[in-house]
Amino acid sequence: MKIVLCGYMGSGKSKVGRLLANKLSLKNLDLDEVIEENEQMSIAEIFSIKSEIYFRKKENEVLKSLLSNSESFILALGGGAPCYANNLELLKENKQVKLIYLKVDVNVLSDRLFEEKENRPLIRSQKSRADLNDFIRKHLFERQFYYMQSDLILDVTSLSLKETVDLIQQKL
Ligand code: S3P
Repeated sequence: MKIVLCGYMGSGKSKVGRLLANKLSLKNLDLDEVIEENEQMSIAEIFSIKSEIYFRKKENEVLKSLLSNSESFILALGGGAPCYANNLELLKENKQVKLIYLKVDVNVLSDRLFEEKENRPLIRSQKSRADLNDFIRKHLFERQFYYMQSDLILDVTSLSLKETVDLIQQKL
């Protein structure tokens, strides 16, 4: 089984992935981390030095290669991954994949992300909390179309990481 976590930036995909992998004794993978390792650059550096288009190309290549063998793992996607290239199709056509959307309310996302927006190329230019909130609301509206095609949609807005992991385990 390949459990794949998707959702907006700040929805807890990487942290939940780590805890879940530990609990289920499965290999843990983080798409952004694999790209950073391959490129020997941070995501922010890839965006500024190489461009977002380059990043999206790498995102697609790495996802394709991770899905191409039969090993089991937990994989946390980057927030945009299901929305670009043929990534969603790759995920949906793979019979081993269980795609899980960690849905979090816009206001909670913007509170979390305002504190750490400097390392996130897509939101760092949002000056105030209100600007960031507006940006996320619109962005999420566009992306929801992709996220909502997941096999499992979990509203984890008011859940702790541990509760989220327990809920996923219960639903598997
Ligand atoms: C992105 C989300 C980031 C990272 C990149 C682009 C996006 O991942 O892949 O900055 O398009 O939403 P996280 O969701 O893990 O922050």
